[in-house]
Amino acid sequence: MTTLPQRVHIVDVGPRDGLQNEKQMIPADVKVELVDRLTGAGFTNIEVTSFVSPKWVPQMSDAADVMARIRRKPGVTYSVLVPNEKGMEGALAAKADEIVVFAAASEAFSQKNINCSIDESIERFRPVTEQAQQHGIRIRGAISCALGCPYQGEVEAGAVAHVARRMKDIGVQHVGVADTIGTGTPEKTKRVMDAVLSVYELNDISGHFHDTYGMATANVYACLELGISSFDSSIAGLGGCPYAKGATGNVATEDVLYLLNGLGIETGIDFAKAVATGQWISGILDRKAHSRAGNAVTAKLAA
Ligand code: HMG
Ligand code: MG
Repeated sequence: MTTLPQRVHIVDVGPRDGLQNEKQMIPADVKVELVDRLTGAGFTNIEVTSFVSPKWVPQMSDAADVMARIRRKPGVTYSVLVPNEKGMEGALAAKADEIVVFAAASEAFSQKNINCSIDESIERFRPVTEQAQQHGIRIRGAISCALGCPYQGEVEAGAVAHVARRMKDIGVQHVGVADTIGTGTPEKTKRVMDAVLSVYELNDISGHFHDTYGMATANVYACLELGISSFDSSIAGLGGCPYAKGATGNVATEDVLYLLNGLGIETGIDFAKAVATGQWISGILDRKAHSRAGNAVTAKLAA
């Protein structure tokens, strides 16, 4: 019988991965309140924003303002995405606890998302990770298109492991295997995770699943069976990537919590508060939350 992890670490990426794709500009006040509510619900790692080019992703242009105004709770890691040295300046000034550098397992996506090849992106990150090391800032990496690419189609597990190895070479401490377009299924997920496990230890790998094809919680379960115990998820299933058309948001945090609670796996997160936060932000965005569990619990409470 497989032994599942007893405790899982969740990074809520809603404020960053979730909101980056919103067409209308979301006020900084709302972003700050979202992060504060997540802190209040017991999340210990929140991906707050990105220090990327405002020409590329205008929604994240208020990164410094948002970082300056969130109420930080001791012990909570507030992370930011950083694409280059300029972004690292922003992350340092904002006193981010953790940076996330991001590369792709597909050349085509790398060009569309960050305007350079995979190898160039790693070289661009080298001075960024050096600075992070000098300042004692934790370094996480994300590998996009690990389970499929919107431009290239199939992505080999070996290509994902190759990027993981390059990331490890430049000092990335923890790697997120990202299904950017949500096409992955459990067997494919296991194949890719197995390949990355030849580079990183079990505790240094997380799953980042977008839920476009409804497979994300199944993929989370497949990872649990391998012993992987870190996942990114997005409150209310917010989001998508501006450079992956049609891809929906990350797996909803509420759905992952429902799964984990059902398995008796600890997260330290208050499910009811997470659901309330998901309903609140969905109300602000004037839409129904993309969380089956969140909506079901809310409907039951209202009945
Ligand atoms: P570029 O145009 O090649 O860069 O973009 P550049 O160096 O020529 O700079 C262009 C302009 O942007 C210049 O301004 C720079 O100063 C400015 P100008 O001189 O024209 O006025 N600039 C910046 N401004 C603020 N902060 C910065 C910054 N860098 C340059 N950091 C670049 C290259 C990487 C900057 C650009 O392609 C970019 O910002 N891309 C970010 C794309 C992005 O954020 N995508 C979404 C996040 S990734 C994701 O969602 C996937 C993930 O969730 C995992 C998954 O699901 O796959 C992580
Ligand atoms: Mg993503």
